[in-house]
Amino acid sequence: MDETNWEVLKLAAIDARSRAYAPYSGFAVGAALQTDDGRVFQGCNVENASYGATICAERGALAAAVAAGELDLVALVIATGADRPTPPCGICRQCLSELVPELRIRSFTKDGAFAEYELSELLPEAFDRGHLD
Ligand code: THU
Repeated sequence: MDETNWEVLKLAAIDARSRAYAPYSGFAVGAALQTDDGRVFQGCNVENASYGATICAERGALAAAVAAGELDLVALVIATGADRPTPPCGICRQCLSELVPELRIRSFTKDGAFAEYELSELLPEAFDRGHLD
């Protein structure tokens, strides 16, 4: 990932955020995942009157990539309107880790500041399919 790739991914996440469906929390989130060959998949949060049925932006982007047959994912950008960067929630960490245990993540605030994370640092000792043996 060079800085040009990150910029493209950031713009895709901001674009996805504009379509967030978040009438309950008012907290719109956009996400964009990049594959190893440069394809980008977007997601936004989709809330529900049954609050627990809400889908986070990160999992939406992950589902879009998987549905397209793209499993080789290398980077994730999250975009919110918050004042400080928001890391992915615990459920999203687990879901991303299933397919991409090593994933670079940048999370952007409304002002364009960002924090960078490595998924394996956010979710050390992840439960994975190896534990089912
Ligand atoms: N949300 C995400 O989309 N991604 C996260 O990583 C954290 C939370 C959404 C879920 C809900 O629609 C809103 O943000 C407030 O929690």
